[in-house]
Amino acid sequence: MKKLASFLFVLIILSLFGFSSNTPKKSEDETLSERVDSVLSLMSLEDKIGQLNQLSFGIGWGPTIKVAVPDEYKELIRQGKVGSFLNAVGAEFTYELQKIAVNESNLKIPLIFGLDVIHGFKTIFPVPIGEVATWQPEIVEMSAHYQALEAASAGIHWTFSPMVDIARDPRWGRIMEGSGEDPYLGSLMAAARVRGYQENLSDLNIIACAKHYAGYGGAEGGRDYNTVDFSERTLRDVYLPPFKSAVDAGALTLMASFNEIGGIPSSGSKYLLTDILRDEWGFKGFVVSDWGSIGEMIYHGFASDLKHAGQISLNAGLDMDMESRAYITHLKELVDEGKVDEDVIDESVKRILRVKFLLGLFDDPFRYCKKEREQKNIMTEEIKIAALEVARRSMVLLKNEKNILPLKKTYKKIAVIGPLANSETHPLGGWSAMGDSADVTTVVEGFKKYVDKKTEILYSEGCKIDDNSTKGFSDAAKVAKKADVIVLCLGEGRDMSGEAWSRSSLDLPGKQEDLAKELYKTGKPIVVVLMNGRPLSINWLNENVHAILEAWFPGVTAGDAIAKVLFGDYNPSGKLPATFPRTVGQVPIYYNHKNTGRPGDLKNHYTSKYLDLPLTPLYPFGYGLSYTTFNFDNIKLSSNKLSNEDSLIVSVTVKNTGNYDGEEVVQLYVQDLVGSVTRPVKELKGFKKIMLKRGEEKTVQFTIHEKDLRFTAADMKFKSEPGMFKVFVGNNSVDVLDSQFELTE
Ligand code: BGC
Repeated sequence: MKKLASFLFVLIILSLFGFSSNTPKKSEDETLSERVDSVLSLMSLEDKIGQLNQLSFGIGWGPTIKVAVPDEYKELIRQGKVGSFLNAVGAEFTYELQKIAVNESNLKIPLIFGLDVIHGFKTIFPVPIGEVATWQPEIVEMSAHYQALEAASAGIHWTFSPMVDIARDPRWGRIMEGSGEDPYLGSLMAAARVRGYQENLSDLNIIACAKHYAGYGGAEGGRDYNTVDFSERTLRDVYLPPFKSAVDAGALTLMASFNEIGGIPSSGSKYLLTDILRDEWGFKGFVVSDWGSIGEMIYHGFASDLKHAGQISLNAGLDMDMESRAYITHLKELVDEGKVDEDVIDESVKRILRVKFLLGLFDDPFRYCKKEREQKNIMTEEIKIAALEVARRSMVLLKNEKNILPLKKTYKKIAVIGPLANSETHPLGGWSAMGDSADVTTVVEGFKKYVDKKTEILYSEGCKIDDNSTKGFSDAAKVAKKADVIVLCLGEGRDMSGEAWSRSSLDLPGKQEDLAKELYKTGKPIVVVLMNGRPLSINWLNENVHAILEAWFPGVTAGDAIAKVLFGDYNPSGKLPATFPRTVGQVPIYYNHKNTGRPGDLKNHYTSKYLDLPLTPLYPFGYGLSYTTFNFDNIKLSSNKLSNEDSLIVSVTVKNTGNYDGEEVVQLYVQDLVGSVTRPVKELKGFKKIMLKRGEEKTVQFTIHEKDLRFTAADMKFKSEPGMFKVFVGNNSVDVLDSQFELTE
């Protein structure tokens, strides 16, 4: 009785304070934190350190990834000395590993499996720079969705993607993995990829990892891993926005980069990993190092040994150690010596456990390891159709003289020539996970499938991608002479862009340009198809061949997509996400540069220019043709003033003036004419891809708000400044209409 009375008393008191049935429900975040804390409370220091350790099965990507579990790894899992693996692939294999973790380790904490799913797991989509050339975030999101679906069905929880590094130097081979040179375009694509991978974190999604944080694309000389040194303003206004955008889109992990910036390696930068990422942006996920990047701080000359490196990284806010083994080897000792606080370790562990909870691994550690799903969801017809859709939209028409394209279906003989004409491996591009060359449709195959019996497809390799032999030239010329038109497939090898694949030249490798010159002598029309992972300097081609299609590395549907585009089943609509220089000597060359005090002027000697080059690039940022033509006219502003609360509408009339239906990317740029710091000559602030039927006209509108005009001002605050702005609208960053407005106080 007494007990009941006191129970009632408690209930009354609780209801007075609003804790009865009306008790506000705990937020999901609170419940999650409690669950995380309850696991943490069971963990010894050794268990905690184990969660911070990530190990790999094999090195790199591709179907060569090993699948046997070494005894050493079994033991480490049993002892709770590893929290994550990368490169462990397959529903069955990851099941084996997970089983050891949840059945045989002390605390039964599930493992998290990561893989570089960069542009496809098995069904390979175009390389990322190609996907971005669609200028369609929704298409990029769809691609990420299917990549996730395949990977998740093969036991993968986590992709080391998107790579959101801005790249202004095409010598840097990793330009292929990113979104090119522009922070606005890069930010939209970063968010689209995060959404596509993570969606609602069901067991058919995977978590994203925005990398490489930060500044990695600024490597001096375009040489991978090289020193980076730019101003804080450039860091904040150019290199960080895509990371911020990925974080805002919910990215659950980030990867610290290999490079230093201004003397501080990112993997040891508290400023990047804690002050900006957590304190300014409120990031709640965890940060993984790049492969061995903690240990590499020794070579940077920033840490005296591995132990010191571990101390710096952990204290800076780097949570998980990928393959340096600095944490697993030294953290315990560092805590004992008082150099690392156990509370700091706790924070890192909590961030990792939180993600494991969000992935549902504590509820069902095997939810990603289901053999039936692997068989059902990989390389389905639906995914292949999606890959083809992305591939044809990724292609950029760089030249089309005398309307040689689309190819006539009445041609009797077409010569498909070149080292990339019948290649099964190169169209996959780099970082192609479990992609298999056997699944690739080559250009020759694509053409044969496409044409009817009346057209013959002839083939000759002509030369290799990158050697000095011209032996194949005569056969190629012989084949070319028989044909009505030559489709010449040139470019780079898939292993010439990507990590550690920097080039000092942007010319076509080997004897490929000479092959083009040889075929030119036949007098036959030449259509060049380029496959490559970076902007190339292709002046001779630009001047001499009839048409050029930039196809990037299109993935498994390469030949089908190229045939459809060249025959006009799809009218190309891609635009360049990075400037194509005339020669490597112009690099870095990017559209959103500063004016300088002496803007380049060929007629004036003391101006900023080269003696031996025009001022312009070969093809500017945002450039790309169509089989039809578009006319831009009548730029109008809803007002010539914009106040902080208001918005301004910019409109323009676009008309399809050619002979085909087609899509156009209408691009909006602004220039802040006077600032407390100098401002770029143009900055992309919006774009819309529209479809216009032949003869059709549309008015396209953009809305500009004050917040779109912000930048890191002289006082280092991110804000706009009142004054005059120019606004430009066009179909690339150079051919534009312009107007002006004033931003008022
Ligand atoms: C690369 C990362 C990649 C990691 C894991 C590193 O060498 O820089 O981009 O995610 O390896 O494969």
